[in-house]
Amino acid sequence: MTPFSRRDFLRSAGGVTFLALLPQGPGAFAAPEPAAGPRLPLFTVLPYIQPGSQSRLAPGADSMVVAWQTQEAPAEFHVEFGDAGAFERRATVVSAVRFSGRGGDVERRLNWHAELTGLELGRRYVYRVSGNGQVLAEGFFTTRQPRGQRVRFVAFGDNSYGDPSDRAIAFHAHAQHPDFVMNCGDNVYDSGLDNEYQRFFFPVYNSDVAHHRVGAPLLRSVPFYTVIANHDVQDKDANNHETADFGKNPDALAFYTAMHLPLNGPEVPTYPTPIQGPPDRIDVFRAAAASRFPRMANYSFDYGDAHFLCLDSNLYTDPNDPTLRRWIEADLSSTDAVWKFVVCHHPPFNVGGEHFQVQHMRVLAPIFEAHGVDIVLSGHEHNYQRPRPLRFMPSGPGLSALVAGRDRKVPGRFTVDRHFDGVTHTLPDGVLYVVSGAGGKHLYDPGYTDAPSRWTHAEDSHEDYVVRMVTDRHSLTVFDLDGDRLTMRQVDEDGVEFDRLVITKA
Ligand SMILES: [Fe+2]
Repeated sequence: MTPFSRRDFLRSAGGVTFLALLPQGPGAFAAPEPAAGPRLPLFTVLPYIQPGSQSRLAPGADSMVVAWQTQEAPAEFHVEFGDAGAFERRATVVSAVRFSGRGGDVERRLNWHAELTGLELGRRYVYRVSGNGQVLAEGFFTTRQPRGQRVRFVAFGDNSYGDPSDRAIAFHAHAQHPDFVMNCGDNVYDSGLDNEYQRFFFPVYNSDVAHHRVGAPLLRSVPFYTVIANHDVQDKDANNHETADFGKNPDALAFYTAMHLPLNGPEVPTYPTPIQGPPDRIDVFRAAAASRFPRMANYSFDYGDAHFLCLDSNLYTDPNDPTLRRWIEADLSSTDAVWKFVVCHHPPFNVGGEHFQVQHMRVLAPIFEAHGVDIVLSGHEHNYQRPRPLRFMPSGPGLSALVAGRDRKVPGRFTVDRHFDGVTHTLPDGVLYVVSGAGGKHLYDPGYTDAPSRWTHAEDSHEDYVVRMVTDRHSLTVFDLDGDRLTMRQVDEDGVEFDRLVITKA
């Protein structure tokens, strides 16, 4: 069998060459040439890219992170990069210890990353990872588009638990050739542990080939944004509140160590992700997360003509917190983007039976409306729900009491735009609260597809704010932003588009 040429491999694998994994025939892989120097530690996670800490678009000041993980052993890694096919610049590589493993089988690993800084907007760069003098991986990425450029991104949530559907969604996400992925949370099950990221997330979204039963090489060339969600913080404290317990799971909260996302949210939120456990284990986590914990729970960024505000909606937070609300208002009022998205895992408006009562994020609806938010993207309910544009004014006594209590229902007054249809009437009056939580985990609400009588609730005055609900297949959402025209498509796990709408600004 003739080995793949480098060019064929680049074409088939989305643009990266892992020399150590270059296929030579069915089931066979080439071994790397023996290198001088000490033996390299085994990769536990192959190199992948992440958006990095930058938030606002600034020519010449964009950045990207290249990260990977290995067993703990001495190694000298280098990351070189450039924008003309040459690797003329070198980034500083840093590493930090993380515990990883299942049950009592815990070992120390190393998380490595290099931040590539001083990048131009909308430009393709190549990067190369070397270890002990041996070239291990080459890839490319494109930095964020400046204002005025067309952008395509894909969104899905509630994925990565080792299911075939995860692989199909990853494949079809890659097939859309997105500029980036906006994950809607619950990116990794069951508890957001480092070993779960290693088993369920990286092998699927950074596989060496693109195939619907394997996954796709997304992460090596496509930035992947996500939001913290309930399955990132699965332990319970003495009061049965969510917390990350490093005594129980020494590799908890991999969100804060595996992902490298913008760092412009409140440095210490009023309600940070709670942690508990042995101080020495917490110290190891804090050293690996560094400035990302707890700050990365809330952040925002611009991409092309769009602004994205990503919020921690976990139950330990309080969307009525005045400090958080001030930051949200300041963030949304300070952008001149054409399109404004909010991403939070728990949907403010969801008619499904599994999580209908989890409505606390509704209290932010008036802020979203006042600042011209176009779309709120959520997951949590494992299906697809396309809403009508709506406005909502919370009512009732003491919103903080409602949010703090067991019952997180938030009653209020709806104003639903029934004129907008996304085809001939494309100017919405209100915010579209899209649920895209069918990214791979088992689906909720069987029997709700094409059953509008099940899509209303007495508690919401039987308002028909959902116009399409599909619960019988996994799916992802594809957004195309072109000036003041937005197209949203829903694509299923077979690659079939089954819903589409257009939004315009006039
Ligand atoms: Fe969830």
